[in-house]
Amino acid sequence: MHRIILDTDPGIDDALAFFLALASPEIQLEAITTVSGNVDVEQTTRNALTLLQLLDRGDIPVARGSRYPIVRTPVEATEVHGANGLGNIELPPLKLQPIAQHAADLIIEKVHQYPGEITLVAIGPLTNLALALRKEPGLAQHVREVVIMGGAVRVPGNVTPCAEFNIFADPHAAHMVFHAGWPLRLVSLDVTQLVTFAREHIEEFTRSGGVVKDCIRQVTSFYFERFAPFYGISTFQMHDPLCLATVFQPDLVTWEEAYVDVELHGTLTLGETVAYFNDYNRPDKPNMRVSSAVDAERFIRLYVERIEQAWT
Ligand code: RIB
Ligand code: CA
Repeated sequence: MHRIILDTDPGIDDALAFFLALASPEIQLEAITTVSGNVDVEQTTRNALTLLQLLDRGDIPVARGSRYPIVRTPVEATEVHGANGLGNIELPPLKLQPIAQHAADLIIEKVHQYPGEITLVAIGPLTNLALALRKEPGLAQHVREVVIMGGAVRVPGNVTPCAEFNIFADPHAAHMVFHAGWPLRLVSLDVTQLVTFAREHIEEFTRSGGVVKDCIRQVTSFYFERFAPFYGISTFQMHDPLCLATVFQPDLVTWEEAYVDVELHGTLTLGETVAYFNDYNRPDKPNMRVSSAVDAERFIRLYVERIEQAWT
């Protein structure tokens, strides 16, 4: 069993990752922490609460996190995820509230409650994890693992030619997280952009309806109608759901040890993740495992099976 905290900026693909987490018996979702990313933290918090309310899982605490990145000016991705972050679907009146604690404090509290057991699954910018590290410098020694959706190692970025969105949105936080010394896996664009859903496939597997399948179809329709056609994209990239799946099925992905650092000063290269795979002029020993290949078909089968089993 994997006791996780999901740090997230919902986000259409974040929402699909929520559904997989709650449909997978291997995952114990201890808490959700929200951060500004795709949209601002007020909206990502509302979206996280809305998704839990949809699934009748108000028992899972949601802690609002950082509105602003550590240093840089905020960036958003409303062109991809819609103004409300969930494909501009109509959001129901909210009955749930976030807890009063800040996300960083909840992360610290849970790690102390379950020393050595918590896996931090970060599928948005890494601001909350960085703040938790600053508040509790010894935190990294008591965390089971950190699994991050982010970065672009051997492929171009998706927000600039060099940088992937989650890292670009808070590169200083990513630098702190990359060098904290905890066990770390990076699920980067190298594999997540290979794991795609065609609209027809989504239409087919959600046709039987129900709360979750209707939501999947509705939130992705914005992407297919208002984003993909204008950027020459025809399929939905399952970035965050793949990251979540690698927590309990790591062999979906081929991993490589690497020393990875983040560009903090480049005008054109800010947020670039730079990986050293051999010890030639490598600045230090490897600090993470990066994702170099993926069994995309097996993951899509897993995703569809888990949603079918949990909500049909
Ligand atoms: O680059 C993809 C990542 O940025 C995903 O986590 C998506 O939700 C956005 O946050
Ligand atoms: Ca995300």
